[in-house]
Amino acid sequence: MTDKEEWIDIGSTEEVASIPLKSCKAGTTALAISFKDGQFGAVSNICNHVGGPLGDGRLDGDYIICPWHGWKFHRRTGVGEPGFEQDRVPAFPVKVESGRVLINVAAPSRRVKAPHRPHPLSRKPERAPGSLRLVGISTTVMDTANPRFSGSDYLLDHSLKAASELGADTRLIRLNDLKFRACEGYYSKAAQACTWPCSITQMDASDELDRVYDAFVHWADAVIVASPIRWGTASSLYFKMVERMNCVQNQITIANRILIRNKVAGFIIVGGQDNIQMVAGQMLGFFAELGFIFPQFPFIAHSRGWSHEDMENNVAMVRNSKELAEGAGMLAKRLLDLATRLIAQDEAPASIERGGRKAHRV
Ligand code: FES
Repeated sequence: MTDKEEWIDIGSTEEVASIPLKSCKAGTTALAISFKDGQFGAVSNICNHVGGPLGDGRLDGDYIICPWHGWKFHRRTGVGEPGFEQDRVPAFPVKVESGRVLINVAAPSRRVKAPHRPHPLSRKPERAPGSLRLVGISTTVMDTANPRFSGSDYLLDHSLKAASELGADTRLIRLNDLKFRACEGYYSKAAQACTWPCSITQMDASDELDRVYDAFVHWADAVIVASPIRWGTASSLYFKMVERMNCVQNQITIANRILIRNKVAGFIIVGGQDNIQMVAGQMLGFFAELGFIFPQFPFIAHSRGWSHEDMENNVAMVRNSKELAEGAGMLAKRLLDLATRLIAQDEAPASIERGGRKAHRV
């Protein structure tokens, strides 16, 4: 705190006291103004984490809870909540004169950002040397205690086996085995609130989608996503994963940073009834926006057709089809061939000015 003075009137006492917490400007200074137990408080409106507007949050006793990810700061001193006192946002002197609330914007306390251990996912994406690496993502949902035959999983197994025979390291991730939260819409608060790594991943160590993030951003050269068709679209688990991938795409939006470089994607789509083109279109569009690249003919698919309700026969058809199994292997080969060329050329830029759907400047 300095002894400089520049007192700015922010309103009458009744007016300012009528709202327990609000964002406000005093000259050019953005403030979180609070009133509780007869005392006014004024701290910087900018959260230490990634800049959330503290005055738009809520009070928990004398602590302001940031509306973006819940960090807490004392409403009058700016000091972080117990256990995090090293973190401080600037606090400003407040006085009441002649029924008016005045803030000395020239004498804030110092902002202190305590070092926070970076999340392991936040490391720079760099391809580690070694064999080609292919991850298969199974998105089908089933009762694991009573497993059933899944056509999409069956073909994904064939892809992984073929990749392995071609000398690649493989990994299979079944979304059905992971415990992960649905996207809670941090982007809907503000683009900057949707962080990389994902806000949920950073806040909740028990959330297991970090395995998919790690595979997509860091480990894999090639990705195959396998989905059944459910009511004409991809599986619900696929969409649960996709919504959580917004943080990867959002880095392009808010930081012009492409996390996915020199990586290829392909898809396996299996359904009893049709709509393959729509499912494939969604998958291609979404993975393109993440930065993945596709080989020629980037998906294989099968469906029995609209007029057939005999799913037992569909199961038998997939299980007995040599062509589909071979097709799954050939898909893996196309992906690995393209990945090899991309890695050798290493031409993908780390940023593209106004890439993808952000062609319009944001
Ligand atoms: S908790 Fe404030 S910006 Fe994240």
